[in-house]
Amino acid sequence: MSKNTDLIIFGASGDLANRKLFPALYRLHHAGLLEDNVRILALARRAQTSREFVSQLENTLQNVMLAEGLDKGSWKSFSRRLHFLKVDFTNKRDFKDLQHWLVKKRTVIYYFATPPSLYGPISSHLNGAGCIDSQTRIVLEKPIGHDLKSSQEVNDVVGKYFNEKNIYRIDHYLGKETVQNLLALRFANRVIHSQWDNTCIDHVQITAAETVGIEGRWSYYDSVGQLRDMVQNHLLQLLCMVAMEPPNSLEAGEIRGEKVKLMRALRPINIDSVLQDAVRGQYDAGWINGEPVVGYLEEEGRDSGKSNTETFVALKAYVDNWRWAGVPFYLRTGKRMGKKVTRVIITYKESPHTIFSGGQDGARNRLVIRLQPNEGIELEMVSKKQSLEEPLGIERRILNLDFLGDSASVRIADAYERLFLEVINGNQWLFVSREEIEASWKWCDELLSAWREKNVEVKSYGAGSWGPPKAEILIERDGRSWYEGGA
Ligand code: BG6
Repeated sequence: MSKNTDLIIFGASGDLANRKLFPALYRLHHAGLLEDNVRILALARRAQTSREFVSQLENTLQNVMLAEGLDKGSWKSFSRRLHFLKVDFTNKRDFKDLQHWLVKKRTVIYYFATPPSLYGPISSHLNGAGCIDSQTRIVLEKPIGHDLKSSQEVNDVVGKYFNEKNIYRIDHYLGKETVQNLLALRFANRVIHSQWDNTCIDHVQITAAETVGIEGRWSYYDSVGQLRDMVQNHLLQLLCMVAMEPPNSLEAGEIRGEKVKLMRALRPINIDSVLQDAVRGQYDAGWINGEPVVGYLEEEGRDSGKSNTETFVALKAYVDNWRWAGVPFYLRTGKRMGKKVTRVIITYKESPHTIFSGGQDGARNRLVIRLQPNEGIELEMVSKKQSLEEPLGIERRILNLDFLGDSASVRIADAYERLFLEVINGNQWLFVSREEIEASWKWCDELLSAWREKNVEVKSYGAGSWGPPKAEILIERDGRSWYEGGA
């Protein structure tokens, strides 16, 4: 278990560390889930003492965790784990100070919460200063490259110093409770599992809609766009969890192997299909939750000129294998959409023969998996209408599994809490392998290059809407529609 571990965070004064990493570590500590012997070392360029760092972090977390608050006693004991060291990540001499801080025979985990351009220099300096042994683990944040080639370069440079079994690449969606629950839903419920294929399922929808814009990240986001920011990683990981074959066990190699197989079965969207099967959008000004918001081109940080970067993507994808032949997977994700919602919708086929009145549509089952918010699962069942006038009418009724309301816990854990526990325990099952990253980039590269070759311009959509009209056409052309019901 998590014994004698040093967790060393590069980029400890950055946004990710403040908003996600330290709150997650504090919550684990508060819940008694961090072993006493876990030390946390924060590294940043700023010159300050450990005491100054701790007091600054306390102020920051008081704001970030305003709703839940910091418990005085827990914070006091948590702060005893915290240490600070000033390190300039590009200066190899500073890594000697780190080397002096390390103590033999403890498991060391380096967390790179830095721009990926620093992964290489940091790894090399760690190596130069003798801070790596065969057990040392590293945690890498996305993005790992911006295409297949650059991702291979990042993986090569890190792979020079660390063994693949010690590299933990984060996709925070895998840390979400509800994403892991997809495994339980599929592989612990015989009734679901036996209906999970093209004989029963008509189509699958995956939506990850966000109300936020680009949150002051113009220079990063404009060179990336929504396909690289959300589809290459989070949406494809969700697709894998929904569609992969049953792994032999929950062992990391088994799960990752199935995900790679699935990604390799994804039919490419290329120049022949891109105009039909993919839509790019960019938000204009509009309204979110009753407040006016600016369009993408008016966002803070924008230099000059136009931008053809997409903030919305809708895709129709196929998995070319035995189980999924002929079943379309409709994926959509965008910034500045009407509501924040991530969900997977499984629509089952109609019954082969209808003996009830009320039309075919009333006779379909649908499984709505709410990943966030209101985490839970709804199964839309067909039931007889309670009516004397209509003796054989049917209607859809909902069986609702509400994860929070139905359980004893008061909150759903943040993804980073789970991910920290897994890395401390040395379990890679919720982390992404090099092969997965490369397979997903390969698929995205083909789509990106088709967009380039066909000069596909972004279609505008009003902030607060569900994306450009073309996204509706993408699915309606097939006689289907996006699911927009529920909370
Ligand atoms: C990040 C993206 O990986 O995921 C962000 O870079 C996006 O642009 C975020 O907003 C969404 O995460 P979540 O957990 O809020 O759905």
